[in-house]
Amino acid sequence: MVEILKHDVVIVGSGLAGLRAAIEASRVSNGKLSVAVVTKTQVMRSHSVSAEGGTAAVLYTDEGDSFESHMYDTVKGSDFLADQDAVELFVHEAPKEILQLEHWGMPWSRREDGRIAQRYFGGMTYPRTCFAEDKVGFFEMSTLYDTCLRWDNITFYQEWFGVSVLVEDGRFRGITAIEMKTGDFYAIEAKSGIIATGGAGRLYSFATFGHSSTPDGLWMAYRAGAPLKDMEFVQFHPTGLIPSGILITEAARGEGGILLNAKEERFLKRYAPKKMELAPRDIISRAMYQEMLEGRGVEGPGGMKHLWLDLTVIEPERLKERLAGIREICLKLAGIDPINERIPVRPVAHYYMGGIHTDIRGATPIAGLWAAGEAACVTINGANRLGSNSTTECLVWGKITGAEAARFAMEHKGDGGIPVEQAEAEEKRIFDGMLGKAPRENPYEIKRRIQRIMDEHCYIYRDGPGLEEGLRKLREIKKEAFMGVEDTSRVYNTNLTNVLEIEAMLEISQAIMTAALHRTESRGAQYRTDYPKRDDERWLKHILLRYTVEGPEIGYAPVKITRFKPEERKY
Ligand code: FUM
Repeated sequence: MVEILKHDVVIVGSGLAGLRAAIEASRVSNGKLSVAVVTKTQVMRSHSVSAEGGTAAVLYTDEGDSFESHMYDTVKGSDFLADQDAVELFVHEAPKEILQLEHWGMPWSRREDGRIAQRYFGGMTYPRTCFAEDKVGFFEMSTLYDTCLRWDNITFYQEWFGVSVLVEDGRFRGITAIEMKTGDFYAIEAKSGIIATGGAGRLYSFATFGHSSTPDGLWMAYRAGAPLKDMEFVQFHPTGLIPSGILITEAARGEGGILLNAKEERFLKRYAPKKMELAPRDIISRAMYQEMLEGRGVEGPGGMKHLWLDLTVIEPERLKERLAGIREICLKLAGIDPINERIPVRPVAHYYMGGIHTDIRGATPIAGLWAAGEAACVTINGANRLGSNSTTECLVWGKITGAEAARFAMEHKGDGGIPVEQAEAEEKRIFDGMLGKAPRENPYEIKRRIQRIMDEHCYIYRDGPGLEEGLRKLREIKKEAFMGVEDTSRVYNTNLTNVLEIEAMLEISQAIMTAALHRTESRGAQYRTDYPKRDDERWLKHILLRYTVEGPEIGYAPVKITRFKPEERKY
């Protein structure tokens, strides 16, 4: 018998979007709804904590910034694949979130005049990124977590691993989860739910994501029937520290840092002559990769090629004040002081533009289920996200989905019940089918294989034959691998939860590869060497994927164009 816990709203994920949603669901219901936040980590270990550079919002229209400009930058950055109605909503809601956080205690960095400071980020035509040194995620998470703790109606299930979404007659009914401390399996019944588990995470070997960032939330929603959208678009951030992959924030370039190749040349003049180091990430990462392919990379440790990020051009006091976090990272993890030494960097997997398909209010096609943050694809990011729009998106759609899910739960107060047999089947699948069963291959080797396949076949440059080969290899793993776990202990059996993560990685990497193969054009972060041009006639549309046991089923959704007609994208 599966034990059932009951709440009104269940939120899976405790990063920025999840916490913001929990607060809003509480506020909208005046604390009357019981809100559960289920997280496989401890709250303050959610990956949002490691966000560095900032949060974009228009604050100073009196000084020349405008909603129109933030909207245009975002749409152009997305290579015109963003839904413009969503972007319009986003830019108008963003400043409210900055001020809301301020009122809850967020220590934004300040200008001399006491107003909130802002700086440049890539692809933005105005310095509109708010920041708190370069530890924005940590301060935002602390602020939201403190605020959550003021609400007695919020229950945190920390170190609980979300397993599946329960759906009956097209309606969300709750989730199943494993309490990692005991290994006990539960069903959590709720009227409404929000998936806020972040993006697909560590599908590549060189990544800024924490090791806990894996696509479990996407997989939960996908196999419950919610389609995924825009999965082919994977963002490579230009500056991953060699050899760990830890993020060196774009704010370093916003503060004046420059990129150099092995010949000590500011190579971006050949790729983005106007914007240079402040061009969008897809363009800079591609340029860096091209430089390395053409022999202008530097040989790094373990044969890892890299280029240089030079911050010695920044005045040392400014660097210490505004980039304290990355200075510490460089000192501790690379033995480099960026005040007087260059930083070895190369493009690094950082973000997934795709995610669970939602409407403009974050609703998935499953009634009662919403998605927010990187897990969701609303979509404001289209084929390429601009830096510092992501933390803002988490806040804006955390708030929106929290309110929507709360209203839905209040309207359906009387409804109840979960499909018990679904929960029991899931428990059986895991505890009878996997626990104590020897795997055919070490699951951690399967994880490395998935990462190698993604590195090799679905990287910055892609082509049809490579993607087909990658997909074939992933399918082969799926066919042959048996995901068992020898360790039979129930107490903190992290092997078990790791295997569930690897299962999700295998499914979601196939979704990415399928969409990348299907989109026969180059747009934003998807660069097909066999189709090097953008093709608006055929591809100005989103690719939707529906889960089937045989593999993803492909469909489409139109792009909403309201203000800005697609044009050639030059920086
Ligand atoms: O470079 C950064 O600080 C990353 C920001 C982002 O992904 O939005």
